[in-house]
Amino acid sequence: MIPRPTPTSGNPGAPMNPEDVLLPETIKVGLKTKLIGQLICHYQTVESTNDTAKELAREGAPHGTVVLAERQTAGKGRLGRTWESAFGLGMWGSLILRPDLPPESIPPLGLIIALEVAEAIYLETALTALIRWPNDLLLGGKKVCGVLVETESEGLRVRAVVAGFGINVNHSFEDFSEDLRMTATSLRLCARRKVSRAPLLRVFLSAIEPSYELFLREGLLPFLPRLRDRSAVLGRGVSVETPQGRRRGKAIDLDEQGRLLVRDQNGCTEALSIGQVKILR
Ligand code: BTN
Repeated sequence: MIPRPTPTSGNPGAPMNPEDVLLPETIKVGLKTKLIGQLICHYQTVESTNDTAKELAREGAPHGTVVLAERQTAGKGRLGRTWESAFGLGMWGSLILRPDLPPESIPPLGLIIALEVAEAIYLETALTALIRWPNDLLLGGKKVCGVLVETESEGLRVRAVVAGFGINVNHSFEDFSEDLRMTATSLRLCARRKVSRAPLLRVFLSAIEPSYELFLREGLLPFLPRLRDRSAVLGRGVSVETPQGRRRGKAIDLDEQGRLLVRDQNGCTEALSIGQVKILR
């Protein structure tokens, strides 16, 4: 078993605006979900909330459990990248889901998580974040949120899905490493004010519950109009690094499996399921 830090109980120390503290009892005030966020585990420091969530899921944590940390020492991004997770500045969290679906049906969930984070950001800050396929959120062309969905399978069945979300909330420019300063931003930088994390998380958790249930019933189809509206890539020239090599062309649509349809200069359209998109024009 991976040694785990003990969850925070009570006030972790520094006096703060209570709405900016991610303590379970604060978040649960006014949270009207049935299952999502009914168990919240908050830590001061973990390596990665996704890894802690996977460990908790193996130990039987129920559907809807949320794992939060003030800091991650080994935050993970998609495609083997790292995720910078400074203390207290962001929302570093993972949601445990237990869908009765085959593993191949899971990837579109990342798009839905990104969509509902974007909606929560809008409701809390009036900022319109766009989705850079598959699930990065951009504000002013810079990344404000990343989503990492990991699936724990047992043969042909999903045992648990861990949906990790990293939102840069209260970073100033200098809080990002020099490497990230040109490509990353935070809600505070864009809204020009500090943003409280607890209400943002509450709005996100409240939205994700009905969306998850709709996804189980009807798949990605009912989400496609909202995903298209919020897309940063559709209609744009893109270069996509995929495991099969680089693809260049125009991003023309998303399909029901959440794949990005890219039409090249010869008019051939390819459906991409994984990759890193660069927006060209
Ligand atoms: C990406 O943009 O490549 C995905 C970044 C996902 C970061 C979040 S932070 C909380 C959760 N725990 C992790 O280790 N990663 C995700």
